[in-house]
Amino acid sequence: MTTIAIVGAGAGLGLAVARRFGREGFAVALISRSQDRLDGIAATLSSEGITAKGYVANVRDPASLTAALVAADEQLGRIEVLQWSPLPAKEFMRPVLETVADDLVGPVEFSVYGPVTAAHQVIPGMRSLGRGTIILINGASAVRPGAKVTGTSVAFAGESAYGQLLHDALAPENIHVAQLIIPRGIGGGEPSHEPTALAERIWTLHTERGAFRTFAADLDN
Ligand SMILES: NC(=O)c1ccc[n+]([C@@H]2O[C@H](COP(=O)([O-])OP(=O)(O)OC[C@H]3O[C@@H](n4cnc5c(N)ncnc54)[C@H](OP(=O)(O)O)[C@@H]3O)[C@@H](O)[C@H]2O)c1
Repeated sequence: MTTIAIVGAGAGLGLAVARRFGREGFAVALISRSQDRLDGIAATLSSEGITAKGYVANVRDPASLTAALVAADEQLGRIEVLQWSPLPAKEFMRPVLETVADDLVGPVEFSVYGPVTAAHQVIPGMRSLGRGTIILINGASAVRPGAKVTGTSVAFAGESAYGQLLHDALAPENIHVAQLIIPRGIGGGEPSHEPTALAERIWTLHTERGAFRTFAADLDN
């Protein structure tokens, strides 16, 4: 059994992706900041016959993130799939003229240092398997900067550049790096944005691969 590590695993997209991959025989490592919430999600998955365990980490703290990924790999099985999908903090989303340099520290730790830390932790294991998938989940500001969401716009640009470079570097090694852009709110009424539909898209990104960047729906619907 191999493992999907979901970094930023909550009751929305995280749970839906855990179910989708769990159904296919993956063990699921759920990573976020609250052991109680993680235990609740893991219990739900276990009751459905899926092997799942929660690991506490703050993605802005590289040591905690690395420790969680190491423990998951040892306890559940080699990490074959990494999903990067923590929900950005509201404080990252300020108008451009109200954003000073210090306001960008959090977004950059969250969306650049975090993914780089996680990728370096899991790539050696993927190499040993001879396959792997790294999936970055972002909102529309990764593609079109939003004047009122400066921190995420700036940091997602860095995450996107890193992901594209990683995609190109790892493709010859049978490791696929993908970015899924979700233009509007999850569960906001669009069928394409229901967590189960998005989880299906993410399963397809893993199984069928394709280009680095894909969209859950048109940006301008
Ligand atoms: N929700 C939307 O409307 C929407 C729209 C477009 C794109 N997206 C993307 O979809 C993904 C999230 O999906 P979702 O909203 O359905 O979320 P979810 O899977 O329900 O939960 C995401 C989890 O991220 C965790 N998280 C936040 N900050 C963290 C940190 N510093 N360290 C570790 N974990 C952290 C939170 O748990 P704790 O607070 O317990 O740590 C939260 O439960 C993100 O990639 C987001 O950019 C979401």
